[in-house]
Amino acid sequence: MSRPFARALTASLSVLTAAAVLPVSSAAPAAADGGIIGGRQVQVSDSPWTVAVSSRDRFGGTRAGQFCGGVVVARTMVLTAAHCMSRSVLGVARGEVRDLKVIAGRSDLRADEGAEIPVREAWVNPDYDGSTNSGDVAVLTLATPLPEGYVLPMADEGDPAYEPGTRAEVYGWGDTTGAGDYAHTLRAAQVHVLPDSVCQEAYPGNSDGTYLPASMLCAGEARGGKDACQGDSGGPLVARGELIGLVSWGSGCGRAGSPGVYTRVSEVLRVLRKHS
Ligand code: ARG
Repeated sequence: MSRPFARALTASLSVLTAAAVLPVSSAAPAAADGGIIGGRQVQVSDSPWTVAVSSRDRFGGTRAGQFCGGVVVARTMVLTAAHCMSRSVLGVARGEVRDLKVIAGRSDLRADEGAEIPVREAWVNPDYDGSTNSGDVAVLTLATPLPEGYVLPMADEGDPAYEPGTRAEVYGWGDTTGAGDYAHTLRAAQVHVLPDSVCQEAYPGNSDGTYLPASMLCAGEARGGKDACQGDSGGPLVARGELIGLVSWGSGCGRAGSPGVYTRVSEVLRVLRKHS
């Protein structure tokens, strides 16, 4: 592990402590007008930790090369999903993508507000398992730091934000219908943390997937209708002003009985501590 990575981790861990004193507000307006799935348009200035992960070389320029979401957890450290860095998503090996960037401070991918910051290093969790999607996290180290105000604290194990029933918001520029309608502007949907048993029943290890509660987090709505979808992967699930999940997988999008599955951030912290 590189020194800058360890420094960024130390910074992010001190942010954790700071979070106890200075909670970030996650108050959100209630108007609903369409997806992430069942979401609404939001301004990135209200959730500056939400970033787009981009490569125009691989994904073209119409949506600024956006192909996954990410979240700022230290000034030079962005978390995304490990599967976003896989050959099956990128089409080539990660090392061959020369223009991997993080776009911060830009709500509309067609605008040129905010900043495009080159990724200096991409670290993929060596314990990521592509067959179950467990350990679905990668760390992008930025070439230049973002403002401190962009940083979202991560919720550690035992934090009340993980309790079933907690309201949470998921953010992204992904598919708004499940039919390949990718958003140009940032969207958010309100979901709830669900008991592990709901995802264990939905994903018992059948063709829809295997829910592993130690490393995954279950969130959605019992009736469906609100969810993340393709293109939202790696983006944040936020509860009580803290990061609790990264968009990882699900069966379809927004279907009743098929909740969203997220990388559990308390497990991410364990992985980061182990490797720093
Ligand atoms: N794997 C998808 C991606 O790469 C995210 C899917 C999330 N699906 C869901 N129903 N919550 O963008």
